Amino acid sequence: MARLVLFTVLTLVPSLTNAIVFNTFDGEGFPACKNVSKVYDPTTVEEMVSIVKEAANSGIPVRASGKGHMWYDTMCSDDPATVIIRTEQVNRITNLSLLAGEADGSVMIEAGVTFLQLAEYLHGQGASVGYTLVNWNITLAGSIAMGAHRSSLKEDSMVAAGALELHIIDGGGNLRVVKRDEVNDEWLAASTSLGLLGVIARIKFKIYPDFKVYAKQDILTEDKVLNGDIYGLISPYATANFWWWPYLRKFHHRYYDPVPSNISYQEGFQSTFSVTKTEADIAKGLLNSGKYLATSNMAAETLFFTLWSPPNFREKSTEKAILTWPVYGWNYDVLIGGLYPDYGTEWDYGLRGITLELAFPVTQANAVLKRVRKAFDDELKKGIVMTSTYRSGINIKFGKAYFDLLGQVTYNTADGADWSKGAIMFDFPSFKPTVGDGLRFNEPFYHTLATALINEFPCRPHWTKNTREVFGQAKKNIDPDHLARFRAVRQKFDPKGTFKSVVGEILGVM
Ligand SMILES: Cc1cc2nc3c(=O)[nH]c(=O)nc-3n(C[C@H](O)[C@H](O)[C@H](O)COP(=O)(O)OP(=O)(O)OC[C@H]3O[C@@H](n4cnc5c(N)ncnc54)[C@H](O)[C@@H]3O)c2cc1C
Ligand SMILES: *[C@@H]1O[C@H](CO)[C@@H](O)[C@H](O)[C@H]1NC(C)=O
Ligand SMILES: *[C@@H]1O[C@H](CO)[C@@H](O)[C@H](O)[C@H]1NC(C)=O
Ligand SMILES: *[C@@H]1O[C@H](CO)[C@@H](O)[C@H](O)[C@H]1NC(C)=O
Ligand SMILES: *[C@@H]1O[C@H](CO)[C@@H](O)[C@H](O)[C@H]1NC(C)=O
Repeated sequence: MARLVLFTVLTLVPSLTNAIVFNTFDGEGFPACKNVSKVYDPTTVEEMVSIVKEAANSGIPVRASGKGHMWYDTMCSDDPATVIIRTEQVNRITNLSLLAGEADGSVMIEAGVTFLQLAEYLHGQGASVGYTLVNWNITLAGSIAMGAHRSSLKEDSMVAAGALELHIIDGGGNLRVVKRDEVNDEWLAASTSLGLLGVIARIKFKIYPDFKVYAKQDILTEDKVLNGDIYGLISPYATANFWWWPYLRKFHHRYYDPVPSNISYQEGFQSTFSVTKTEADIAKGLLNSGKYLATSNMAAETLFFTLWSPPNFREKSTEKAILTWPVYGWNYDVLIGGLYPDYGTEWDYGLRGITLELAFPVTQANAVLKRVRKAFDDELKKGIVMTSTYRSGINIKFGKAYFDLLGQVTYNTADGADWSKGAIMFDFPSFKPTVGDGLRFNEPFYHTLATALINEFPCRPHWTKNTREVFGQAKKNIDPDHLARFRAVRQKFDPKGTFKSVVGEILGVM
C-alpha cells in the first residue's frame, strides 16, 4: 500500500509535454477528452481511492471511464491536467444473494463490470437483472452515471432503477455508501450523478430469477404511428420500441415479454451491431456516396429496412440464423445479446455515426413525431430527400417515469409538462461520412431540427448522446430547482471540484 501511494504521488505530477487524446469507442478522430495528462488502469477499488486522494490534493481534475461507449468530446472538462481512471480492470462480482422462492435478490459489482460479464455470471447462477440493461460492452457504473436506459413504459428500465447502493469515491477520497432512498437528495443526485459526485466504485444491484422472453416485430405504416395510439402500442410490453424509416414512411415495432421457460427450446441471441467486412464495405460505399447523392441514401434506407425486417437473431447453440418471429430465449440473450463470434462491429469496420437523443413527455409523442415529419417534408418541398442513414433506422425509445434530479425520465418538474406517464426518446443516429469534409448530406438540417425540437417542446438531452451545442440549448429545459439541489449535494461530495466535465460546466452545477 505504501509503495502504491508513493507511486501515484510521483506519477501524478502531470507532464505538460504529455498530451493524451482519450477516444470514445469509435477510436481515432473521436475524442471523449481532447487532451488529458494521464490514464490510469487500476485493478482495485483501494487503488482508485489513492489515485483520487493524490489528484485531489494536487488540484488535478479526475474523470472515471468505463468502455468509452459514448459520443462526443464531453467526458472531461477541457483542463489538460485531467487524469482518467479507466475502470476496466476493477471488475469483481461478489456477494450474490438470491434465495429460492424469493422474487428478487442482490449482487455486488465493481465499477468495470459490463452488462455482458454480469449477464454471463448471473445466467450461470440462474439469475438476471430483469429489464435494467442497456448494451453489452458498457459498464453498469458508466450507464448509471449518465442515466442510461432501456425502452419500456411498463417496467423500470433506467439502469439506475436496479441500483440498491452506490459506493462513490468522493472528492476527499472517502468511499461513501449511498443507499436507495427516494426522499434523500444524496440518493436523488447519485442516481444520475453525471460522474460529478465522484467515481462510482461499487454498486449493489438488484437481481431476479432468470427468465425467458420472446421478441416479435411488426411493420407499421407511418400513419398508424403518427396518428395512432403510441402509448397503447408500447405500454403493454415489458420492453418495446420503434425504428423509423422516414424515406419509406414505415416503422418497425419491436416488442418483448416474458414467457414460461418451457415454451420453446430455442435459445435466441440478438445482435444489433454484428457485420462482416464485406457488408460494412458495401454499406460504407453507399453511404459515402450518399454524402453527395440523395439517391444513394434512398437505396441505403431501402436496403437497411429489408435487412432489418427478419430477426437479427441466431440460435445460440448452433450459430444458425433464426428466420421467423417470434424468437424465444433467455432474458439477456434476447434483450441485448452481443456480437456473433465470426463478426465485427460496425465501428470495427469504419462505419461511424453521429447522434442526437432527446426525451419528451410521452403524452406529446404524436406531436413530436409529426414535427419531425414536418421537418422532413419541408426539405422535400425544396427537392431534398432526407432518409435514415443508420443500419437500424431512427431509434424511438421509451422510458417509464423514475424520479431523481437529473434523469431523463424524472417528473414533477418546473416545465409543468406531464412526465408522469413516461417519456418518448427520439434517438437520431446518422452516418458520418469518411470522405470530403466529413459532414453529412444536408448537414444544417440536423442542427435546425435539434434546435426546433428543443425550443418547441419540453425536452431533455441524453447525457452521452449529444454535442456541447445541444446541451447548451437544452439547459433551459432542465428544472432549475433540480439543478440547485444537485449542486448542493455536489458541494458536499466534492467541495474542491475535482470531478469535472463539460456537461457539468454547461449545466452550471460546478
Ligand atoms: C453502441 C452503443 C449503444 C448504446 N445503447 C444505449 C441505450 O440503449 N440506452 C442508453 O441509454 N444508452 C445507450 N448507450 C450510451 C451508454 O449507455 C452510455 O454512454 C454509458 O455511459 C457508457 O458507459 P461506459 O461504461 O462505456 O462509460 P464511458 O463511455 O467510459 O463513460 C461515459 C460517462 O460516464 C462517466 N463514467 C464512467 N464510469 C464511471 C464511474 N465508474 N463513475 C463515475 N462516472 C463514470 C464517464 O466519465 C463519462 O462521462 C449506448 C452507447 C453505445 C456506444
Ligand atoms: C469491448 O471494448 C473493449 C475496449 O474497452 C474492446 O477491446 C473489445 O474488443 C470490445 N469488445 C467487443 C465485443 O466489442
Ligand atoms: C495539451 O495540453 C498541453 C498542456 O497545456 C499543451 O501544451 C498542448 O499543446 C495541448 N495539446 C493539444 C493537442 O491541444
Ligand atoms: C460481502 O458480504 C460480506 C458478508 O456480509 C461482507 O463482509 C463483505 O463486505 C461484502 N463484500 C462487499 C464487496 O460488499
Ligand atoms: C410448461 O409448464 C407448465 C407448468 O409448469 C405446464 O402447465 C405446461 O403444460 C408446460 N408446457 C409445455 C409446453 O410443456
